[in-house]
Amino acid sequence: QPLPNFDLILFGGTGDLALRKLLPALYRRMVAGQLSADSRIIGVARSEISREEYLAQVETSCKAHVGGEFDAKQWARFSGQLTYFKIDANVEGDFKAFAESFNGREKCERAFFLSTAPDLFAPICEGLARNNLVTSCSRVVLEKPLGHDRASSALINERVGAIFTEQQIFRIDHYLGKETVQNLLALRFGNMLFEPLWKRGRIQHVQITVAENLGVERRAGFYDQTGALRDMVQNHLLQLLCIIAMEPPQSGNPDAMRDEKLKVLRALRPMSGREVLAKTVRGQYKSGAVNGAPVVGYLAEKDVPAGSSTETFVALKCEIDSWRWAGVPFYLRTGKRLQEKLSEIAITFEDIPLSIYERPDKPHSLNRLVIQLQPDESITLSVLAKNPGEGMFLKPVSLGLDFSETFKTRMLDAYERLLTDVIKGNLTLFMRRDELDAAWQWIDPIREAWEQYGESPKSYTAGSWGPAAASALIGRDGFAWSNEL
Ligand code: BG6
Repeated sequence: QPLPNFDLILFGGTGDLALRKLLPALYRRMVAGQLSADSRIIGVARSEISREEYLAQVETSCKAHVGGEFDAKQWARFSGQLTYFKIDANVEGDFKAFAESFNGREKCERAFFLSTAPDLFAPICEGLARNNLVTSCSRVVLEKPLGHDRASSALINERVGAIFTEQQIFRIDHYLGKETVQNLLALRFGNMLFEPLWKRGRIQHVQITVAENLGVERRAGFYDQTGALRDMVQNHLLQLLCIIAMEPPQSGNPDAMRDEKLKVLRALRPMSGREVLAKTVRGQYKSGAVNGAPVVGYLAEKDVPAGSSTETFVALKCEIDSWRWAGVPFYLRTGKRLQEKLSEIAITFEDIPLSIYERPDKPHSLNRLVIQLQPDESITLSVLAKNPGEGMFLKPVSLGLDFSETFKTRMLDAYERLLTDVIKGNLTLFMRRDELDAAWQWIDPIREAWEQYGESPKSYTAGSWGPAAASALIGRDGFAWSNEL
């Protein structure tokens, strides 16, 4: 469906996210016929570069990221709708020419996407307001990290909230835009099959893994200030946990889902002090090999300060104090420079009460539902079946749904979906202020305890599955991570 006429303004327009994800996503939406000829995309950054120089950067990046879908004719159209402004949010005069370019476009949907350092969010919004650029058709998109703790995030929300109403603020978590996350919603709320099983007594435990084989790439400056807990757990992993654990929303209305996610965040059992040390594992990669190629350790990465104790890996156990989930442990882990890129949710069901047939030892005998988000999108249910031949010996087999094979179509990139949602004004997949606050409220004491007790990260070899302590964390409860089964 074509989108209404819009102006999309990308602050941080020369940054990694804009070049690698946002602009290629918009290019693809144009190729799909969604961008009207009168829409504009405006890159904004502090660099003193010409429009031509900007287009050259975007072209290189689009070519690299859309691969075979790149086409010179389409690019000519796309670049015709793309322009660039140099703005330093702290220099008032910089907004002038930019503001003038909106004359006559007041009725057009207008989205300001802020993919800059979070300390610039408020100055940018205030600059936009002073220059009368915030109309009733305007919205602002805030890319993570939204602050570095609960207090700083509250401050940003306060200042941005003084200019935009909550209905105009789109706090992005791109994991919510991933196709398989949407499919998890479909699986849970479009089918009756799993709902009676989706609770304590039926589910034994849940694992969420977001493993990357990449290191910190060119972002060490940012990453070293952030660490895996704030970069991944506070947002992506907790959002996935919410989608798994929430009650069925009352309707498809954005707030219906956001209300339910909020309840999960509020029901997360808080941990603090020494308990944190028992339920979490911090790690940092040392040199090793990924896919057979040697890679340096975190401390040898460009721009990482000597002796940094930033974690590049986190594993933790959490519990949800609700009737549905009391007593069901959720294990979360994420890390850089792990063995492979793999994001998955693995739900293990309770065992049968009595086995009358021969079968393999636990945990292979347990039913598991694995929802894989990356690298491929699939849903697999493992069940026990009879091994062919004589006797009654049971063996685990998989019932699987591979999305690309079944639907034979390219899956949308998360940002393609989320950017079109912004333009359509659909808030369902964006975090509300109270959700963000509840997530920080749960996360802050973990970091504080690490600091208080001087919990330095345990080193793990690049290309492994993280520190041995992560296996011990889940092993103490008698379980194992999926890759260890
Ligand atoms: C970002 C993090 O939010 O998510 C990055 O800042 C991480 O550190 C990225 O690499 C992972 O996203 P994806 O979609 O590649 O799994």
